[in-house]
Amino acid sequence: MTSSPHRASARAHPNIAFIKYWGNTDNRLRLPANGSISMNLDSLCTETTVSWDDTLVVDTLVLNGELQTGQPLERITEHLDVIRQLASIQARAQVISDSNFPIGAGIASSAAAFAALSLAATRAAGLELSEREMSALARLGSGSASRSIPGGFVQWYNGQTHEDSYAESIASTDHWHLVDVLAIVEPGHKRVVSSQGHQSAHTSDLQAARIAGASERIALCRRAILERDFPAFARVVEHDSNLMHAVMMTSQPPLFYWAPLSLTVMESIREWRENGLRVCYTLDAGPNVHCICIGEDADQVRSLLMTLSNTIEIRQSGPGGPAMVIIDPAQVKD
Ligand code: PMV
Repeated sequence: MTSSPHRASARAHPNIAFIKYWGNTDNRLRLPANGSISMNLDSLCTETTVSWDDTLVVDTLVLNGELQTGQPLERITEHLDVIRQLASIQARAQVISDSNFPIGAGIASSAAAFAALSLAATRAAGLELSEREMSALARLGSGSASRSIPGGFVQWYNGQTHEDSYAESIASTDHWHLVDVLAIVEPGHKRVVSSQGHQSAHTSDLQAARIAGASERIALCRRAILERDFPAFARVVEHDSNLMHAVMMTSQPPLFYWAPLSLTVMESIREWRENGLRVCYTLDAGPNVHCICIGEDADQVRSLLMTLSNTIEIRQSGPGGPAMVIIDPAQVKD
């Protein structure tokens, strides 16, 4: 590598899991205990630029304009180490990353972050990975990042090895106009990060039962998406979210991600659905409620959410595309 920076930028969307990933069979490789299904979120995104530079002595990370040290930087350096090894380079990298949504609040910010980082860093290092290889690589940074590499509706196969634990599209962005009306009830940073939560999932008596039923829920969810069957979809998505949160609440130490307002929103959604609105809820490792609905019902869901509390902030997304390179290193003249 020469002393001029080798640079590339990439954009990735976070994703919302309809069938959740919670717990690993291998924490180091982030091989999940069960497969999962998600949809990328088109209006939320992270853009990351990576410059490999022989003149740097350490990696640097600027997140939404703020220079990072400590744990966030260490996690990025660990992932860059994997890419350094793949590309047989020693250079350190400057990483600049910007997201248009709150980070670390259960909006899968690490999914978009590690998908964009993996794509930008490999491209800047001159590596050309297949989508499957890129998905497996992103998984090493954050499990759910594997699902932010392909576009649209995505399934992540749990796999037994690094190579066979990857995600692929099961339907394109235009297959079904589902909308995620995200009710941000608390924008703050979550108390326990998911990496830690995955490691304690096995301490819940309920985790084994959740895992045992996962293949069936995956099949139900996949079929409901492919057949655009909203009632079947809503049933399995809410059930799967409740199961994951039951595991979280019964782990040692217990993890309670729901806020009082999350429960109010969840109860209201069930009521609205009984009254004919095509909407269901799902929550990741945070208090914010993803209200998944048919596109035509999104405006009504949004207005109803506003009647529940004037503190709820709302972000609306349809199915998002794959992670993409936004500047090719060949075009960068330094
Ligand atoms: O990829 P991680 O380590 O941030 O874990 C994501 C876990 C959940 O968001 C709670 C569920 C999921 O499948 O996205």
